[in-house]
Amino acid sequence: MRVVNTIADMTRLRAAFGAETLGFVPTMGYLHAGHLSLVRQSVAENKCSVVSIFVNPMQFGPSEDLERYPRDLERDFSLLKPLGLDIVFVPDVGEIYPPAAQHGTTVTVYGPTERLEGAMRPGHFTGVATVVAKLFNIVRPTRAYFGQKDAQQVAVISKMVSDLNFPLDVIACPTLRESDGLAMSSRNVFLTPGDRATAKFISGGLFAAEALWQAGERDAAVLESVVRESLRRGNFVNIDYVAVVDPLTFDPYTPGSTAALIAVAARVGTTRLIDNILLSCVSRL
Ligand code: PAJ
Repeated sequence: MRVVNTIADMTRLRAAFGAETLGFVPTMGYLHAGHLSLVRQSVAENKCSVVSIFVNPMQFGPSEDLERYPRDLERDFSLLKPLGLDIVFVPDVGEIYPPAAQHGTTVTVYGPTERLEGAMRPGHFTGVATVVAKLFNIVRPTRAYFGQKDAQQVAVISKMVSDLNFPLDVIACPTLRESDGLAMSSRNVFLTPGDRATAKFISGGLFAAEALWQAGERDAAVLESVVRESLRRGNFVNIDYVAVVDPLTFDPYTPGSTAALIAVAARVGTTRLIDNILLSCVSRL
């Protein structure tokens, strides 16, 4: 496993891989088992695999947690080493956004960015799409792996890849959870034991809604109220949204469509958590 810090070195090594399949897992580091499951899938499905670790300032709003975002590169390297990947690309901020050149180009995806995370975090998905487009151009993967945990991000990146003709496949991978159901996240490190006890009511509510969906319930308001009821039992005070949406467009779910996704964002303590459950399969995801 080689650690590469510059775009020049990454480009040179990428050229040496030639036409072999190349799997790519972009991350912001502070890796957990969810990230590692993406890396394992990439290593299993491709001749070569690259992971990037880059905490992307452009996707954090001015009042968000860029400064306190957890970082531990040595720990990340030791978790990645046994997995058999080829390269960890770890550029610094100046490499991706050179200070002299004002970043005059951004990638804005319309459509799936308009609601939920897009509405709560203005500019977030432009930051994500811009850095992912740059990383795709630097790494030039044939397959890129993203977690369903960030379902709206999957929809945004899939649309960008399709609209801008990136020659690669986006692979959506299942959400890994802690034993109490909490979706794994780098930000879970900020949760106190009390926060943890509260946080599990998010997945509890999602599982209850999933059970109702499987029993035939298709009324979005009923499905949403089951999740809100669980959040109430967990004493959540700050709920950003609970919504049943189309998993590709993130438009509100309309009865009759076969696919749906129920998404939640809520704050516990000082930490904002998001989670979702796909209520039926979508062929493109
Ligand atoms: P980050 O939050 O580090 O996540 C990297 C990848 O891991 C994302 O595709 C995310 O969906 C996936 N992931 C996170 N938690 C997961 C879980 N519990 N189970 C499965 N996969 C999980 O997402 C980002 O970074 C950034 O926005 C990035 C795409 C790197 C652009 O900066």
